[in-house]
Amino acid sequence: MDLKNELKKRTDIFNIELEDYLLDGYPKILYDAYRHLPMAGGKRLRPAISIISNEAVSGNIKNVMPLAISIELIHNFTLVHDDIMDKSNIRRNIPTVHNQYGEPTAILAGDLLFAKAFEVIHNFSGDLSVFKIINHKIVNSVREVCEGQQLDMEFEKRNYVNEEEYLEMIQKKTSALFMLAAEGGSITGGGTDDEDKGLRNYGKYLGLAFQIRDDYLDMSSEVNTLGKDIGNDIRNGKKTLIAVHSINNATGNNKNLIEKIFGNSKASQEEIKKVYNLFNEIGSVEYAKNTAYKYCDEAKKAINILKDSNAKKILKDLAEYSINREK
Ligand code: IPE
Ligand code: IPE
Ligand code: MG
Ligand code: MG
Ligand code: MG
Repeated sequence: MDLKNELKKRTDIFNIELEDYLLDGYPKILYDAYRHLPMAGGKRLRPAISIISNEAVSGNIKNVMPLAISIELIHNFTLVHDDIMDKSNIRRNIPTVHNQYGEPTAILAGDLLFAKAFEVIHNFSGDLSVFKIINHKIVNSVREVCEGQQLDMEFEKRNYVNEEEYLEMIQKKTSALFMLAAEGGSITGGGTDDEDKGLRNYGKYLGLAFQIRDDYLDMSSEVNTLGKDIGNDIRNGKKTLIAVHSINNATGNNKNLIEKIFGNSKASQEEIKKVYNLFNEIGSVEYAKNTAYKYCDEAKKAINILKDSNAKKILKDLAEYSINREK
């Protein structure tokens, strides 16, 4: 099975539905700004996971589509605001929304995406009680993303953050949407309670692994490969798992060097490389890789309760992909 092809089959259908939904409007600049990021592509992993989870419990793609669109719109809304918070200039290989349109319009573009995310679920054609459950789950997931993003920003200012705090933060800011995607796919597909729960846990562990890999790529990749700025996490003093481990384990000269560069918004690309090399020497990169590997395993285990199917196999491959991906 070729994972890329399997994903493409679903995201091609999804993209048509999404693009039909992102209509133009007035004032034109606001509508250009809100279409900027979703129309620039992206991996569409969250909608893909909701569609494949729905398939895994023998659902019907029609019933999960409003949720899939809603999650991708929420994801894009959080990215537009995240790029303002993280001072990021490039995403999906193009200028970020605030970089192109300015911060006030970017804030509004994010708000508009958020509003549309709640509009689209009214297209849900199934049972009203299922609609209510999904609506409630979306609200809770957004609340968690907000809490996680606030912790992420507060941690920038703190000198010390422990691993448990980091994991709580990424479970909220990143896993929350993957949990919603996987569990929501199951609920809209008529999954059993065990299937809903298994897929929810799958989303949780996949999200943790995915964010640990994201943090690694931020310091080690290249702009053209990743499509995002490189080194901003180090410049912003983000308490990623790698940074947390290094701060706890660095000694002597290494400690001084890290302290000098980490959190310095003016750090050059060479200085970023230097810190990355130190993180590597200290063993923190290896440590984070092993942790991500462990969560990938947990994600795969969580869906053992699903009956065997092509969809189940794709979900397992996606868990592997989350820790090996280059973008
Ligand atoms: C980026 O998510 C935000 C994180 C949670 C790390 P993705 O890596 O899924 O971004 P796109 O949608 O593919 O651009
Ligand atoms: C963001 O994490 C997660 C969100 C909820 C938006 P990051 O800040 O690491 O995401 P990127 O690297 O900018 O995509
Ligand atoms: Mg961020
Ligand atoms: Mg960011
Ligand atoms: Mg990142």
